[in-house]
Order: sequence, then C-alpha cells, then structure tokens
Amino acid sequence: MKTLVTALANQKGGVGKTTTSVNLAAALAARGFQTLLIDLDPQANATSGLGLDKTSPESIYPVLLGERSMEEVIAATQEENLFVVPAELDLAGAEIEVARMDNYLDRLRDALKPVVDSKRFDFIFLDCPPSLGLLSLNALSCANTLLVPLQCEYYALEGLSVITDMVIKIQESSNPKLRLDGILFTMFDGRTNLSKDVVEEVRNHFEDGLYRSVIPRNVRLSEAPSHGLSIFGYAPSSNGAAAYLDLSREFTERHGRGD
Ligand SMILES: Nc1ncnc2c1ncn2[C@@H]1O[C@H](COP(=O)(O)OP(=O)(O)O)[C@@H](O)[C@H]1O
Ligand SMILES: [Mg+2]
Repeated sequence: MKTLVTALANQKGGVGKTTTSVNLAAALAARGFQTLLIDLDPQANATSGLGLDKTSPESIYPVLLGERSMEEVIAATQEENLFVVPAELDLAGAEIEVARMDNYLDRLRDALKPVVDSKRFDFIFLDCPPSLGLLSLNALSCANTLLVPLQCEYYALEGLSVITDMVIKIQESSNPKLRLDGILFTMFDGRTNLSKDVVEEVRNHFEDGLYRSVIPRNVRLSEAPSHGLSIFGYAPSSNGAAAYLDLSREFTERHGRGD
C-alpha cells in the first residue's frame, strides 16, 4: 500500500489541529498501522504532547535546511507503532532561512520522498502552525489530502474560504493531486444550540467533505498532553478516546484501508 500523507491545517489557532494530529495518529497506531506524525509548528505542542523534548536539535529544522535526512530524526514514542519527527522552538527561525533557499516550497516534499518511497509508514500526518505561511505551504505541497479541523463556534465558516481558495491555488501550481479530504468539527458541546447551529450551517455548505464523526469537548483531551501521552495512553475509556477511534475508522474507510 502507498503511504497516505495528510496535512492538518487551518490558519486559526486553537481549533484542534494538534489534538487531532496526535490522537488520530495514535488511534491508527493503536489499530496496528505504522504511523508518523511530523510536527511543523514552532510551538512544538505535538512534540511535547507525546513526551518528546521540544528543545532538542534532533528535529525537522535541520531536515528542512538539508543538513539531516528525515529518517535520522524520526523518533519512537511511548506508544507502539507511533513515531514522531519533532519540532523545536527554534523552528520559527528555520522559516526565514528556508525562505532564502531554492525550491523553498518543496523542501519538505524532497525530504519526505525517501520515507514515502520506502513505504515504512501507512500514514503520515503533518501538524501545521496556525498560519498559511511557508511551513504550511510546504505541507500542502507534499500532502495527498488536507484535513481541516473546525471549532464549533460562530464565525467557524469565516476563514474556511481562505483555506479552500488556497487548496485550489496549490492544485494549480505545486501539487495537482492535493484533495480537501474533510472538515472535522472539534470541541462540540451537545448541550448548546450554538454547536448544533454551526454544524448545521457548515453541513449545508460542505456536504461531501464533512466528517460524520464529531469530536466532543472532553477535559481528558486537554489533560493528556501534560502527561506526554495521547488520549489512548492517558484515558482510553474517555469520550475523547472513543471519538478519535470513530474518526480513525471513518478515515480508513474514506481512504480504502481496512484493518
Ligand atoms: N475536544 C477537545 N476538548 C477539550 N479541549 C480540547 C479539545 N480539542 C482541543 N482542546 C484544547 O484546546 C486547545 C487548542 O487545541 P489545539 O489542538 O492545540 O489547537 P491548534 O493546534 O489548532 O492550535 C488546547 O489546549 C487543547 O488541549
Ligand atoms: Mg497546534
């Protein structure tokens, strides 16, 4: 099977990109799929959330600069089948250095190619920073699919067109194969009409692209990173774990990958 590369992007911060990258990747790993999460956010929340050091130079940074190979910086986590390429806080500086290089939009794609070609992983996830800058563009230039986490709040739709327009531009230039794989609602609160209204409104606009699975607001999901574990390591019987497991099943169905 080919490796499926999925970027998680949304120019808004705090919408659940990192929580979804970590826990969707962890759900697939728990189901036995070889899974790699690449942290592209200088805040390095996915890195520390899986118990890795966000000040270590063994990170994506020297890879983007062409000084290390991607394989050299792939790190194991405490969870079976789940691997991470860490970010580091200095990554913000890499953005400036990479911008001065040739093929600055293809740095990630070129570095990832040997890993994809090796078919070592079933799934690779790219956790993007909260902007559509150079690092996110690198991710979209090499991803097969884009998953957009959306927080259930007013104005959720605002900004969605920014990212759908971006997908069209990337399809027309660096990556014709990019697909908008889906929109995922996060932090859903079933007790409020607001959450329900937002889901309804987006459903009217994006029928096909929407994930049926919805991630509820669940305090365990916000606690897990401080223990350096995914929700499956920290609270496997929580609602949050059940929701990400459901999402992982819908994800593999959508991409034609059975257990
Ligand atoms: N379903 C959820 N329930 C409760 N808290 C959540 C949930 N999803 C995310 N959070 C919390 O919300 C904050 C922002 O989420 P995060 O995944 O870091 O967003 P992003 O990566 O888009 O900036 C974090 O503190 C995270 O722990
Ligand atoms: Mg994040």
